Amino acid sequence: MILQKMQPGHIAGVKELLDGCFGESAWSEQSIASQLDKADSYCAVAVDEEKVVGYIAFEAIADEGSIVELAVSPEYRRKGVGKKLVELMLSSCSGVKTICLEVRASNTGAIALYEAFDFVPVTVRKNYYDAPREDAVIMIKKVYE
Ligand SMILES: CC(C)(COP(=O)(O)OP(=O)(O)OC[C@H]1O[C@@H](n2cnc3c(N)ncnc32)[C@H](O)[C@@H]1OP(=O)(O)O)[C@@H](O)C(=O)NCCC(=O)NCCS
Repeated sequence: MILQKMQPGHIAGVKELLDGCFGESAWSEQSIASQLDKADSYCAVAVDEEKVVGYIAFEAIADEGSIVELAVSPEYRRKGVGKKLVELMLSSCSGVKTICLEVRASNTGAIALYEAFDFVPVTVRKNYYDAPREDAVIMIKKVYE
């Protein structure tokens, strides 16, 4: 498996991955492509045998960054792929002082992964998500250079 900066050729593979992870609420190919194109965005993929099995999308405004998407294919979970994608993103986001993210309150696996990187829960946004309706936990990490 290799981790690499995402290229336009990965868009269809990322779409397939996100469909498998998020179903109907998965980003469209257009959203994936525009995330890749955004200034101050960093997208990376994990690829195994030419299949995209992991994806992270990060963006920054001035010194405030956010993880806007993270997904690992079900059959590749608990093998350290998510951790490696977060590490790669952190090593690529120089100049950022804080990183925030939103996560479903019930997503204890993702919350555990983020806590391992010293993200701390700071607030809850009530009923933030639809299908199913659920609170979002907002987590923030301070980045020390
Ligand atoms: C959350 C997600 C990205 C984690 O990816 P992963 O590759 O399985 O994570 P890793 O194997 O790198 O896990 C690193 C650590 O995070 C924690 N962790 C990850 N998944 C966990 C789970 N399901 N339950 C408990 N802890 C978990 C563990 O501490 C783990 O270390 P360990 O395996 O040595 O115990 C993956 O489960 C996923 O894609 N889920 C669906 C999409 C999603 O929820 N995305 C996040 C949106 S905010």
